[in-house]
Amino acid sequence: MVSNSAPSTPRLLPSGGTLRGTVRVPGDKSISHRALLFGAIAEGETRIEGLLPAEDPLSTAACLRAMGVGVSAIEVGRTVTVQGVGLDGLSEPGDVLDCGNSGTTMRLMLGLLAGRSGRHFVLSGDRSLRGRPMRRVGAPLGEMGAQIHGRKGGNFAPLAVLGQPLRGATIHTPVASAQVKSAILLAALTANGETTVIEPAQSRDHSERMLKAFGADLEVQGEERNRVWVRPGSRLSGQSVVVPGDISSAAFWLVAAAITPGAELTVENVGLNPSRTGILEVLEQMGAAVSVHNRRDVAGEPVGDLQVRHGPLRAFEIGGDLIPRLVDEIPVLAVAACCAEGTSRIRDAAELRVKETDRLTVMARQLGAMGARITEYDDGMAVSGGVELHGAELDSETDHRVAMSLAVAARIARGDSTLHRPEAAAVSYPGFWDDLQQLGT
Ligand code: S3P
Repeated sequence: MVSNSAPSTPRLLPSGGTLRGTVRVPGDKSISHRALLFGAIAEGETRIEGLLPAEDPLSTAACLRAMGVGVSAIEVGRTVTVQGVGLDGLSEPGDVLDCGNSGTTMRLMLGLLAGRSGRHFVLSGDRSLRGRPMRRVGAPLGEMGAQIHGRKGGNFAPLAVLGQPLRGATIHTPVASAQVKSAILLAALTANGETTVIEPAQSRDHSERMLKAFGADLEVQGEERNRVWVRPGSRLSGQSVVVPGDISSAAFWLVAAAITPGAELTVENVGLNPSRTGILEVLEQMGAAVSVHNRRDVAGEPVGDLQVRHGPLRAFEIGGDLIPRLVDEIPVLAVAACCAEGTSRIRDAAELRVKETDRLTVMARQLGAMGARITEYDDGMAVSGGVELHGAELDSETDHRVAMSLAVAARIARGDSTLHRPEAAAVSYPGFWDDLQQLGT
């Protein structure tokens, strides 16, 4: 877990050098959480290959174990097994469920637990998570009859869930959030009638794909695929899940190679679910040399290998329905924007303010320390390209994606940088620093 108080050693980020070779990023974080959670409420064993062995999925596994689910050790290269307890088999834990730094763990868990009648659960997490909005999940679950209580009208953890029988509902979510959508879908599995979730735009659809594969009676509807319908009553059965590499982790290498003179990288086995590939469209808009090879389908998710090399880049403009398809890649896209010709603009991205940190302010502050020219908007930022970055004293501010984005920026800066709290990267990519060393020349 990312500790908010433990002292950590700053990391020297040397300037210069190039990047060459082949890398495999660890398993997709979103798919890893879902494989553990759905395996837990299925009947029989679920086997998960390629599960992300990082702090966030470890938080999900620890919560499930505390409710009586057998989850085998999570280690690099090891198949993980989950002994499902069935839809109503989770037992009441004797202590607070610690979700660590993981918003996905807490939000999906709220949906999973809201309908566990007669049982009482308390969820908490680290300082960052205790400051993230949870009413966005509690309010729609409330429409289904859930009872979730917490600070500030149930918006902030610690949260208490008093398990209740739930009713089916038609719910319009105010934000395109896969965490909110997935929490409702999980609650809908044991409601007393059908549920439909309608999002303003489609968010990542890993839950829909995987729940169907586990046997849920679920349909994605609408031309924009932003409506999901669920009928309760189907039993879920344990599956074999293969987790592809995380495109949100691959994004650091894609941008690093695109902006670093002489760089040429291949990132193998990357998940290419269309609800996640916005980054590839932006890199194309920038004129980056990225190509996709060996496209294939692995256990219900599209996968491929990505090749990228350095080249000149143009500024980009992004907003609207594209944002949910690249929401986690915006910090590293801000780095790419610093190296492009012209001014890049990011709009409709106010969601970044409620991630592990306020990523708009934090990226503007940290890249600003390197000499970047960034103007923050309420819902995004403008980044002037063509400004030479210089080495600086940097801080991840405990955010994993900030840590890795700054590592990418530091290599092309003039002069070395130092990064405080680099260990944050372990939330989603524990081997990041080793991979950076291995690919650097
Ligand atoms: C996630 C959804 C996204 C993303 C997060 C993981 C998920 O959040 O930022 O890292 O696994 O469902 P929102 O759906 O809240 O935007």
